Amino acid sequence: MPDKSLTAEKIEHWLREENPDRLDELWRAADETRRQTVGDAVHLRGLLEISNHCVRTCAYCGLSRHNRQLKRYRMSAAEILAGAREAMRFGYGTVVLQAGEDYGLAVEWLTQVVRRIKNETPLAVTLSLGERPLPELEALREAGADRYLLRFETSDRRLYEVIHPSTPVRKSDRVQMLQELRRLGYEIGGGVMIGLPGQTYATLARDIEWFNRLDLDMIGVGPYLVHPETPLGREEIKPEIDPREQTPATDTMAYKVIALARLVCPEANIPSTTALAVANRKEGRMLGLQRGANVVMPNLTPASYRIHYEIYPEKACLQETAEAGDSLLRRQLRTIGRTAGVGPGSRKKTERPFSSLIRNLLMKDGKPLILCVDDDPDVLDHLRMILEGNGYYAVTASNAEEGFAKYREKNPDLVIVDLMMETIDAGHLLIKNLRAMNHTAPLLMLSSVGDALQASIDTAELGISAVIQKPVQADSLLNILRAKLK
Ligand code: 5AD
Repeated sequence: MPDKSLTAEKIEHWLREENPDRLDELWRAADETRRQTVGDAVHLRGLLEISNHCVRTCAYCGLSRHNRQLKRYRMSAAEILAGAREAMRFGYGTVVLQAGEDYGLAVEWLTQVVRRIKNETPLAVTLSLGERPLPELEALREAGADRYLLRFETSDRRLYEVIHPSTPVRKSDRVQMLQELRRLGYEIGGGVMIGLPGQTYATLARDIEWFNRLDLDMIGVGPYLVHPETPLGREEIKPEIDPREQTPATDTMAYKVIALARLVCPEANIPSTTALAVANRKEGRMLGLQRGANVVMPNLTPASYRIHYEIYPEKACLQETAEAGDSLLRRQLRTIGRTAGVGPGSRKKTERPFSSLIRNLLMKDGKPLILCVDDDPDVLDHLRMILEGNGYYAVTASNAEEGFAKYREKNPDLVIVDLMMETIDAGHLLIKNLRAMNHTAPLLMLSSVGDALQASIDTAELGISAVIQKPVQADSLLNILRAKLK
């Protein structure tokens, strides 16, 4: 469960905290939450920076098309495939294809590359290609891409517009785009830079709230690093805030944000990022992992290209070979008592097919399990009769709390819930709790004719996939179940 006591105010308070003992409490809480929710495995994602061309003019980033100093490159499909195979050889579960917003990478070509990786390797594919048009994102998802990273950089609209100019064709709205990506079925990753000129403590606290609001699967944050060939680096853009409100771009601030991100989104995959490793070369990466993070993205870009992927100067590990980097990383993980993850390392909710597989093995048949939550025992009896007479298992619960406990215990394939139970919002609460644990079972809502509140319920927003009228008709219920459990 996300830590609900962390209001924006408290988050801001933590961001300003400088007492080492108090900060130790924060590190410990984050580390403990990390251990309980995502465990000791550190997922490794092989990073391929496939092109440094970019059409955008972001004021912080060295890939901006205004940077004439940069030698531009694109990796070939063969080089990308070789990189993916290398990731596989190292035992990584994911390859990340990252680039500037480069329309020289045609979507047809990209989809072919993704398809080949998916056909030729067991890797999950993460894309990080900027704000490409929706139909392209759809085609890439169709081709098999699993995840998309798109940091929203800051939740402060004004600051965003200053540092991240829109293109003439489209107003940039990364929050909206993240929501669209989610609808397309991607796991979504967002995040911000820490210590951007003009970023206040209050803004950064709100950024962290947004992690939770967007229900991010992955959260990437790192300190802002000055690039001299950018408008921010040349100080052509100056923040208009009280200097006392300016967040510092330090590794310590980054640990704070990582730790708080872990507390507000306990199950998210959170990398200890390269920018953090640059801000503290000696310890940044491991301290990130000990203060909430559970992912590292080793860079597999061929060295001859890597030096030109200059988002900011002096990226960490510029020279080292992939082999050397990999064995150093594994050694470091061992010294902090962590292990390298195996498999794609998706956010928890996608592991559910595995547990239902176990359940099916235990039960020795594949009957779907339906959880019914209603405070009326007659309704529960009626539902059980219909379900068990037609090839389903039924589990029942008579209030929200019991429903939630049964969900955790039984991991049902589908949930039928009466929204109007003992208290008016009991059903809502149950749904919210299920959501917080990233349920994947479809939700059906029971509704009585004349329910005063029914009209005001936004079923789509609650993630309810169908409404069943009481009294429940066997045929219509069974039809819905067949459709939803395909
Ligand atoms: N310093 C730190 N991070 C940066 N990024 C871009 N430029 C910089 C910089 N100068 C981050 C942005 C972007 C991600 C790929 O890298 O957050 O989304």
